[in-house]
Amino acid sequence: MKNRNLQIRDDGGLRHLLSISGLTNELLTRILDTAESFAGVTEQTVKKVPLLRGKTIVNLFFEASTRTRTTFELAAKRLSADVLNINITQSSTIKGESLLDTLRNLEAMHVDMFVIRHADSGAAHFIASNVEPHISVINAGDGRHSHPTQAMLDMFTIRRIKGPDFGRLRVAIVGDIMHSRVARSQIHALNLLNTGDVRIVAPKTLIPAHCEALGVHVFHDLQEGIRDADVIIMLRLQRERMLGALLPSEHEYYELFGVTEEKLAVAKPDVTIMHPGPINRGVEMDSEVADGSRSVILEQVTHGIAVRMAVMSMAIRHREETPE
Ligand code: CP
Repeated sequence: MKNRNLQIRDDGGLRHLLSISGLTNELLTRILDTAESFAGVTEQTVKKVPLLRGKTIVNLFFEASTRTRTTFELAAKRLSADVLNINITQSSTIKGESLLDTLRNLEAMHVDMFVIRHADSGAAHFIASNVEPHISVINAGDGRHSHPTQAMLDMFTIRRIKGPDFGRLRVAIVGDIMHSRVARSQIHALNLLNTGDVRIVAPKTLIPAHCEALGVHVFHDLQEGIRDADVIIMLRLQRERMLGALLPSEHEYYELFGVTEEKLAVAKPDVTIMHPGPINRGVEMDSEVADGSRSVILEQVTHGIAVRMAVMSMAIRHREETPE
């Protein structure tokens, strides 16, 4: 598997985190367990542990982000690392400096980890292939390809609410699957955790070809797709990644695929409602659902801190235990 050697050390520990694909069930479970131990830290009066004191983590975000960038920053600070947030719009990349030259200059400052978000699929893999051996790379979202920490925090959220047995769960992912790195990562993670029934629900134009090969059941009718669902994950229409008019209108999408309390009647009564954000009210769901008692959308954000603490501490700490 392409990422396996880059992501995982010979002894099974985490080296880089580039995608869910290539991880093992054991390693994903270990990351979720570690995140569980960090969840309490965020509730303490002093929200810090000294695990990464003296380490330097660089946030390199070439694309917009609210949740991912800030929770990576908070997670690094709660681990006592020094954090650099590179403002790309004010960096020398706008003067034509290449990505590799930017990296080389940051490496010269003796950093320990890059957290990268980039519009190009494969950007994090490219960087991991080119950094010095002591530096870890964490993918914070690359193009349509992968957003592994988002999927991990989603799995963490599901596990906390529904328990560790994913085999008895029916999970429906509703929305723009075609352009979604989050959907790809969630599908891989749900499969890795042996989820009983993984469904994707969307218009034909927003579902990639041959996606049944990913081990999902495909639905083009919302009511059929969410019937008896234990968890419904909604996804945003990614207009910025759509090359043509794939939908007649947002209004029509909402009529057919927007989730309302009324349409939720076919799901399990205790269905959990999730969304990675940003949400578009009145497009993928209405406010009654987004803010309702079954919604855990803001809990997902909170869990992002513990999950990112786990990933960063495992990648960096592991390097100290096994010097290269
Ligand atoms: N879910 C997510 O990746 O949100 P941001 O784009 O705000 O980071």
